Amino acid sequence: MPTVTDMFGIEFPIFAFTHCRDVVVAVSKAGGLGVLGAAIHTDQRLEIDLAWIDEQLGDIPYGVDLMMPANYVGAEKGGLARESLEELIPEAHKKFLDDLLEQAGVPELSSDAPSAKGRGLRYSQKEARGIIDIALEHKARFLVSALGTPPAYVVEAAHKKGIFVGALAGKRSHAVRHKDAQVDVIIAQSYEAGGHTGDIGGMVLIPEIVDAVAPTPVLGAGGIGNGRQMAAAMALGAQGVWCGTVWLTTTESELDRMAKDKLLAADSSSTVRTTSMTGKHARFLRSRWTDEWERKDTPEPLKTPLQSILAYNYLRRIDRGMKAPGVTPESGAYQLYTYPTGQGIGEQNSLRSARDVVRDMASGYVEAVACLNEQLGYGDG
Ligand SMILES: Cc1cc2nc3c(=O)[nH]c(=O)nc-3n(C[C@H](O)[C@H](O)[C@H](O)COP(=O)(O)O)c2cc1C
Repeated sequence: MPTVTDMFGIEFPIFAFTHCRDVVVAVSKAGGLGVLGAAIHTDQRLEIDLAWIDEQLGDIPYGVDLMMPANYVGAEKGGLARESLEELIPEAHKKFLDDLLEQAGVPELSSDAPSAKGRGLRYSQKEARGIIDIALEHKARFLVSALGTPPAYVVEAAHKKGIFVGALAGKRSHAVRHKDAQVDVIIAQSYEAGGHTGDIGGMVLIPEIVDAVAPTPVLGAGGIGNGRQMAAAMALGAQGVWCGTVWLTTTESELDRMAKDKLLAADSSSTVRTTSMTGKHARFLRSRWTDEWERKDTPEPLKTPLQSILAYNYLRRIDRGMKAPGVTPESGAYQLYTYPTGQGIGEQNSLRSARDVVRDMASGYVEAVACLNEQLGYGDG
């Protein structure tokens, strides 16, 4: 069975999940594999970004990560129309957020700002189909399903084009289902991770999944941001690492300066698993937004995809508020601001280029392995 570095023809088994095309290009050029997270890309935006990445990278490999949701409100009907979904949102939830943002002094969006209808997030496999076709028409070598086992037609179409398919797994049963669906690489996403996560820590999850799906290669994900953590994941049987949080504080990342400052100031206990963003458990930076949804006297977050639809325009308001001139850590928008972030954020205390992150992780890995060998008496000296 070839290793992941052989499969993709990359120097380092470092996979970078990112929403930022500049990070994709920087990581792939540095010898890892950049993967563009396209969950909220519109079809047009994905077409533009992939054409740009193809041009920048030529034959250097990269990947695309897409949402192909399996469980959501209306799934039994193959997905409901957006208008029908919006009608299911209770008025009490809207009032709660109207009041929260008003109290925090976050300005309204201007009337020309796009509504939830204009966004890229797809609420059914039916809606995801167009974007999958776009991904398959470009030069991506890796197509990854963010949530759930990819549908058979996706796996078949990707394999026909020589594209490897990956999928995230938060528990053993997910990983076995992916393997049965002919998924080529399984990403063991542990509790520590930013974004949607389960509740099993990496120390247990990685070897459990490695054993369950062998010889299918596994990447360790969750809390991995340096060479020691990479060596640990690989000691647990992973063939490589899949990281998200570490790229957020790179010079290239999609975030504005104030957002980066908030993340740089965070420590490893500054994140929380919350359903207040998407309706499913996902790890985000703890903020006034996540705290308010946890209170007993506030509404329960809705199910997927209703919570994302509800939250969308309020989060846009908060984002705009973060970009306003004169915003400070005391500003309402800053305090409400949150973003998917893993526990590893505590180690990110200064801006670095994505290339430096790859190089630091690779050299840290070599040092960590040498140190282990030395401790066991196998060192050079
Ligand atoms: C900002 C951010 C957004 C994410 N969005 C997605 C997504 O859309 N699809 C997906 O498969 N994973 C997503 N994830 C999870 C990552 O793919 C990755 O598994 C995770 O970041 C690994 O853990 P780490 O954050 O500790 O590095 C996201 C993670 C972050 C930090």
